Amino acid sequence: MEKMKDWYKDAVVYQIYPRSFCDSNGDGIGDIRGIISKLDYLKELGVNTVWISPCYQSPNGDNGYDISDFQAIGPEYGDLEDFKVLVEEMHKRGIRLLMDLVVNHTSEEHIWFQEALKGKDNPYRDYYIWRDPVNDGPPNKWGMGDPGGSNWIYDEASGQYYLHLGYRMQPDLNWDNPKVRDEIANMINWWFDLGVDGFRCDVINLISKDFDAPEGGGNGPNLHKYLHELHERCFGPHNAMTVGEVWDLEPEESLMLTAPEREELTLAFQFEHMRVGRVDAKRFFIGEFDPHKFVEMLAKWQHGLNGKGWNALCFENHDQPRSLNRFGSPQKYRRESAKLLATLLYCMQGTPFIYQGQELGTINPVFHSLYESVDCEANNIERYLVENFGMEDTLRRFSFDSRDCARVPMAWDDSYNGGFTEGKPWIKLNDFYADINAKNELAAKDGVYAFYKELFSVRASKKTLLRGEFELLKNEGGAVIYRRYLEGEKDIYVVLNYSDNKIKCDIPKGEIILSSYNRTKLAPKLKLEPWEALVIEA
Ligand code: GLC
Ligand code: CA
Repeated sequence: MEKMKDWYKDAVVYQIYPRSFCDSNGDGIGDIRGIISKLDYLKELGVNTVWISPCYQSPNGDNGYDISDFQAIGPEYGDLEDFKVLVEEMHKRGIRLLMDLVVNHTSEEHIWFQEALKGKDNPYRDYYIWRDPVNDGPPNKWGMGDPGGSNWIYDEASGQYYLHLGYRMQPDLNWDNPKVRDEIANMINWWFDLGVDGFRCDVINLISKDFDAPEGGGNGPNLHKYLHELHERCFGPHNAMTVGEVWDLEPEESLMLTAPEREELTLAFQFEHMRVGRVDAKRFFIGEFDPHKFVEMLAKWQHGLNGKGWNALCFENHDQPRSLNRFGSPQKYRRESAKLLATLLYCMQGTPFIYQGQELGTINPVFHSLYESVDCEANNIERYLVENFGMEDTLRRFSFDSRDCARVPMAWDDSYNGGFTEGKPWIKLNDFYADINAKNELAAKDGVYAFYKELFSVRASKKTLLRGEFELLKNEGGAVIYRRYLEGEKDIYVVLNYSDNKIKCDIPKGEIILSSYNRTKLAPKLKLEPWEALVIEA
């Protein structure tokens, strides 16, 4: 497929979590053939780019984010032949493919690490980060206060520690070793040769460590050098879309990674708004959600990157619970609030990212027992939560905030196992699959899928929505109005009622181009319905 310059700005990206998307052979695990069978569903929605979470060979301690062979498809997902068919079928439909690039660490089962464990003289030893003990303990205090414990693991055989910033089974690669950088660059180009169009880059700011930092250790002195090198050797020549996963950064820092003239990445996620409604920004610590703050935060990023970078518009992914539970009204106004959130986010400047099931207004499942929760992050903290808050409250927290909330199988219909598998699913189903599933949403007159589809089609037809600038005009008492504008084009106003109440609001005069309540005319004294979303061209 021919790629225009800056095609990432026109991408509408759908994230697939392959384990939970569609199972073609009844083993209870989603797979590549399953994805192929749903490409028309994605095309119909208006998606033109798909990001697939890792489907490489992995012992699945962290569901594929612990890779044991970067150049092999995990057998549970299929094989390289299936993958080639996938690329071909996607490109045939005008859909581009982003793979997940997880190169801060490998699985401990990766051959490199297995070699490295053999001793200090092994040629692969320097592929990882080893340190001698300090005062008979780990080299520094990283991770000591976390439920998972120190970021260093002691290796009896050699008397040294190795570093893992992620989970225990994910030893960090040593990017300061040029051999590691060569291996990674060659691997990336190998995927490009197979037709891949770009990458989502897992915890990418961790690849260079800042050993002086009291915690965490990412954003090290060579981060930009290494990314620029990847750009020169891999991303640039392939005109690739690259979106970095980076936590805790300000717009200026994001621009250091993504400003086009710097030639590093094309985009970076920001997750600042994901912290709203969590006490001390911590997952599982549920606080008040303030829509006003939430909108402010999004606006801050719109202004922060304007003219210099580009936003990745994202409310959901495989690491976050469903946005309706956190930012919407999942019980009373499920469809209405799903439409409002979509309008709020995807009419902003940037590239939309949709996580599987979001287009159906999917809500979190309920965790009735710890056995139903399988994610390593939840497993790490469950003991602490149970001891401090009791079982019932722990399960309430899991049902609100666990990563498994988004990882239960995609619900395709109300049949056995929600149409996800003929076998036994690897993780519990969503409790609500019989009501909230693709078949029902597609059939319903006011379904969420149809609204997403219309939104993306309106978006694609308006230059102002694709490229225009952003201005927040109102954000009070539930009323949110923002304007998009572009020279030579009509202005576009996004008008939202981010509340459960009817509210009066002065609305810019113009033509309705999208309405979540099927409104066709703007009455002079208009009252917005609960969670109403309107887009007006004036
Ligand atoms: C990223 C992934 C997450 C994974 C972690 C460690 O944050 O999104 O799922 O657990 O990296 O690789
Ligand atoms: Ca399968």
